[in-house]
Amino acid sequence: MKIAVLREIRADETRVALDPESCRKLVLLGLEVVVETGAGAAAHFADQAYQDAGATLAPDAAALLGGTDFVLKVNAPQARADGTHEVDLIKPGAMLLASLFPTRNLEAVQRMAIRNLTAFSTDCIPRITRAQAMDTLSSQANLVGYRGVLLGAMELPKYFPMFITAAGTTLPAKVFVIGAGVAGLQAIATARRLGASVTATDVRPEVKEQIESVGGKYIGVELKQGAIAGGGYATELSAEDKALQARMLADHCATVDVVITTALIGGVFAPKLLDEAIVKSMKPGSVIVDLGADGGGNCTLSKLGGSVAVGGVTILAPLNLPATMATHASMMFSRNLLNFMTAFWDRSAGRFNLDWADDILKGCAVTHEGKVVHGPTQKALDQAQMRAQGGMA
Ligand code: NAI
Repeated sequence: MKIAVLREIRADETRVALDPESCRKLVLLGLEVVVETGAGAAAHFADQAYQDAGATLAPDAAALLGGTDFVLKVNAPQARADGTHEVDLIKPGAMLLASLFPTRNLEAVQRMAIRNLTAFSTDCIPRITRAQAMDTLSSQANLVGYRGVLLGAMELPKYFPMFITAAGTTLPAKVFVIGAGVAGLQAIATARRLGASVTATDVRPEVKEQIESVGGKYIGVELKQGAIAGGGYATELSAEDKALQARMLADHCATVDVVITTALIGGVFAPKLLDEAIVKSMKPGSVIVDLGADGGGNCTLSKLGGSVAVGGVTILAPLNLPATMATHASMMFSRNLLNFMTAFWDRSAGRFNLDWADDILKGCAVTHEGKVVHGPTQKALDQAQMRAQGGMA
């Protein structure tokens, strides 16, 4: 079976879906890997490294895709500069594995269904132990948490650690992390490693111990209804719980130097947690790093993909942070894809084993046999259609 690795065309993308090391492992599994020339360049993987790993090179996506059965990508397919769409270059009936964020990329999903692609989205892989090594949400969120703290530290006009010097003593910066999932826990650990004093909150009460295990102090809110959807995901808070949480956030944000927000609903959409009043209550010189930016932002004042200053508070809302660490981000992403491929590749039969009884395959399949087969994505499509027809606000 021939596997294609495309050069990503999203403007802010530097990652590649397969690094040379994972490429070599796929070749050892008996798969034929073809890589678009320059696919790994922005992540500092040379074409030669792929050739050394046993892959062949193809000069462009069109030359590559016509003859391949399985496509590996980082992002959802999109329109190309020449007006064609990546989906339309892929062989009808081929398989695609990428972090599609299908509910955010409905147009691409519809095209994939029409093209009869069997598409799997790594961000929809169920959160079961067996799937952990395939979970790109986790591997990339870890980088986001780390990088987000470094951005906050660079922006803050203060030290993170305590320093006792001949010129006087500085107290440690106070960092508050909102949302203690994968990105949040890494943010807590990174801020602690830099010497900050760290507090953190989440709507899932079970994270208290996890926060403490990486050196943070848990600040809880007693929610009336709670927000646990299972699988590590949180649901949106009720109006009553939102008000309870907002009071705690207002009180605590006013006392800290850096707020790092990482809250997401269902791993996709960012609830709005910080409003103008909270931002204005913060100390001049303090910094908010809105790591929910890819999901729409946790702060109502965030300028997605940029920064904004409000009354002496700087709000950073970086998009696609993993792409700022392209080498390691690609390496982790590649291992996730490699683990997925290894789990379902039937070497003796020479084919990918489409076992629809398997929870992982079932959970992350987005399109198959001309249909959208992912429930939440179909629901989002239905809602979009209703909105277009004026049936919903
Ligand atoms: P996520 O990216 O969906 O959300 C980030 C965090 O925001 C979560 O901890 C969520 O509870 C929190 N949050 C949502 N609304 C909030 C609000 N209003 N205020 C404060 N916090 C809010 O979650 P992530 O980071 O991807 O994973 C969460 C958990 O799922 C992990 O800690 C882990 O236990 C579990 N997990 C399990 C996996 C597996 O078993 N294969 C893989 C990945 C994660």
